[in-house]
Amino acid sequence: MKISVCGKGGCGKSTVITLLGKALVASGKEVLIIDSDESNYGLHRHLGMENPKDFTEYFGGKEKAQNDLMLSKFTHQFIKDRWTIRDIPNGYYTEKDGMKLMVSGKIKQANEGCACTMGTIIKDFVTHLDLTENQFALLDMEAGIEHFGRGIDDAADVVLMVCDPSYESVQLAQKIKELGTALNKPVYYILNKVEDDTKDFLHEAIKDQEAIIAEIPATPDLLRASLKGESLQGNFKQLDGVVQKLTA
Ligand SMILES: Nc1ncnc2c1ncn2[C@@H]1O[C@H](COP(=O)(O)OP(=O)(O)OP(=O)(O)O)[C@@H](O)[C@H]1O
Ligand SMILES: [Mg+2]
Repeated sequence: MKISVCGKGGCGKSTVITLLGKALVASGKEVLIIDSDESNYGLHRHLGMENPKDFTEYFGGKEKAQNDLMLSKFTHQFIKDRWTIRDIPNGYYTEKDGMKLMVSGKIKQANEGCACTMGTIIKDFVTHLDLTENQFALLDMEAGIEHFGRGIDDAADVVLMVCDPSYESVQLAQKIKELGTALNKPVYYILNKVEDDTKDFLHEAIKDQEAIIAEIPATPDLLRASLKGESLQGNFKQLDGVVQKLTA
């Protein structure tokens, strides 16, 4: 299953991916995490892994890939054959505790151009990736909804929005539901940073209760570890049933 994990900036996408990845591994699943966020660097720290080489480098680097795309009038396909997780070349993934991490690419310099090329590469990759029933690909998306515009979510099986207790998240929840539904993808929610006095508000705002598949409490240890650059520890039992709910 390919899961697009999305939400507003800072809602906890990378945190939830890390915790969900651990829960999946603990239940015997094989996990590929795809860092598709061209701006932020936090995910590999949460996972306690080194970043691999940007996958965009495999196609000659951003400048060459961008030229290939533009010269073809945006019809260039970076990947045409079917891939499995084992086909990801050495150096383009790192591995720890049963999880593999790959990274589409990051914006590194001012004026280097938009991130569309990296988005196209990752869309091609996810579209051509074959997974077994036991394998899960978790895509850490850039904040907001531009990835829907780029069509990356079309390559996923499921859209999973992380929703924190904020007006912006609640607004986005509705929009993401519309965008996911337009792509014929099921849309689920994980509530994050939940506290007693915000829980009811979030449930009322989201309405579609069936689509809320887990709630993660506001946890100071997660915040502290992230600040210090330490890998995230602890098992969040709240995530144990997520796979069954996603596949139900
Ligand atoms: N359940 C939680 N309890 C406390 N703090 C949390 C929780 N989830 C995430 N955080 C904190 O919120 C901040 C943002 O989390 P994270 O980086 O996972 O969000 P993100 O959605 O990936 O952000 P970005 O949009 O920048 O990529 C971090 O400091 C993280 O430690
Ligand atoms: Mg992030």
